[in-house]
Amino acid sequence: MKVWTRDVLSEFVRTKLDGYRLIVVSNREPFQHRRANGHIECIQPASGMASALDPVMRASGGLWIAHGNGDADRQSVDQFDHVQVPPENPEYTLRRVWLSKEEEEGYYLGFANQGLWPLCHVAFTRPLFDPDHWRTYRRVNERFAEAVMQEAGSDPTFVFIQDYHFALLPRMLREAGSNLVIAQFWHIPWPNREVFSAFPWREEILHGLLGNDLLGFHLPQHCQNFVETVDCSVEARVDRAGSEICRGGHCTLVRPFPIGIDFDEHSDLAESESMSVHIRRWNQELSLKGKSLGIGIDRLDYTKGIPERFRFLDRLLERYPAYRGKIVFVQIAVPSRSTLPAYRQIELEVDALAAQINLRWGTPSWRPIVLLKRHYTQPEMIALHRLAHFCVVSSLHDGMNLVAKEFAASRFDEDGVLVLSKFAGAARELKDAIQINPFSIEEGAEAYRAALQMDRAERGRRMRKMREAIDQDNVYRWAGKFLSQMARIEFPDSNDPDRREFDFSLTAEKALGVAV
Ligand code: F6P
Repeated sequence: MKVWTRDVLSEFVRTKLDGYRLIVVSNREPFQHRRANGHIECIQPASGMASALDPVMRASGGLWIAHGNGDADRQSVDQFDHVQVPPENPEYTLRRVWLSKEEEEGYYLGFANQGLWPLCHVAFTRPLFDPDHWRTYRRVNERFAEAVMQEAGSDPTFVFIQDYHFALLPRMLREAGSNLVIAQFWHIPWPNREVFSAFPWREEILHGLLGNDLLGFHLPQHCQNFVETVDCSVEARVDRAGSEICRGGHCTLVRPFPIGIDFDEHSDLAESESMSVHIRRWNQELSLKGKSLGIGIDRLDYTKGIPERFRFLDRLLERYPAYRGKIVFVQIAVPSRSTLPAYRQIELEVDALAAQINLRWGTPSWRPIVLLKRHYTQPEMIALHRLAHFCVVSSLHDGMNLVAKEFAASRFDEDGVLVLSKFAGAARELKDAIQINPFSIEEGAEAYRAALQMDRAERGRRMRKMREAIDQDNVYRWAGKFLSQMARIEFPDSNDPDRREFDFSLTAEKALGVAV
């Protein structure tokens, strides 16, 4: 059956959401303007969420509200704080919200990334719950609520909120009483109810999230954790089987929507002529002749298991001397949230471990680990994918992890092996990866060995199956399914009886001839 594509999604939005506005809200902006060498450049920040939503917004048009934090962002907007993006070929509007340094510190660095991030990832990093951060988080949610209300006015509008930065926003919008359908996708895991019980403002945050009409997570397990958390924390009617929660006369559907990537675009770029220059550059830089290449590409984050994957290599070289001098492991670690103590700590640990392993095994002509701590462009990363014998995603816990999907999407040659943590959401779909427990050094080292020894036919068989799964469950299907579910929800002031009767999710997919 035909899969969801950008065109199918555009067609769906044009026909089924016609006459309604679509507003996306996220913290991270999809395009950032910054000063470089005396001029202003526009870049796409490293964010799984932003790269997943950008193609959806290009397909559907609409308005995206986000925090403007580039040093040239203010110069690039009009009097309404709007800028049309992408700059070279505008397809939708970005509205920037300005936050003070204090607001950014309390809401983003403080509450979202020192409180909710470690709490939800259960990554053995203690969450910090600071009442000042919580107050600032609430205030910033209010700022975004104002921006949404200004943009939506009284028009019937679908508001699609992204992530853990805005747990209070849905309730604020609901109480503002406009004609909105409100939905949110939570891009990180939701922990089990025992872990969540440590959160000091449980009732308020759950009340906030239950302002949504629809709340999405990547996995059924995260939905179940959320429903159970609500059931044991607040007064509500909880239908566990139907995954629906009603509180104060309003109901929230809780559903899994595993996110994907734009497979075709990625695979086509990997296959394009333009890759050869990057491939040549990597080959020169890494002196790969006669060696196997292992790679890891991540934000420098303590949930990603970067020290663990270095230890796997260390154990491999210790146990199997034949690999000494024969393997290079390249880790791209994109700096992230680097003013926070836990992020400075992980950077020190990663630096020290790479140096220690290189000292232990390296020779004047060979360094087993090449650690590259900077942002790389998408073509540069795809070129690295193409050269790799294997790619490691060893997250200690991850909502989905799109690096795993991107690696396979780059391998149009149906070669290369993916070593994947069973604690990444992607492990549910990518059964043909070598799956590991990243906490076990032995398992990791053996997985590297298995990847290095796997014959061409087996690599091809596994890669083909992973590519099929990623192609089928691409980002347009994710968005199509989410928006279909959202489109079935009635507006508070609905005067369109036909729309109410319409079963959007099934009919739209059938009418468009796409896979459900
Ligand atoms: O969903 C988690 C997430 O928001 C992803 O979009 C992204 O990979 C990462 O966190 C980016 O974080 P930040 O926007 O804080 O750099």
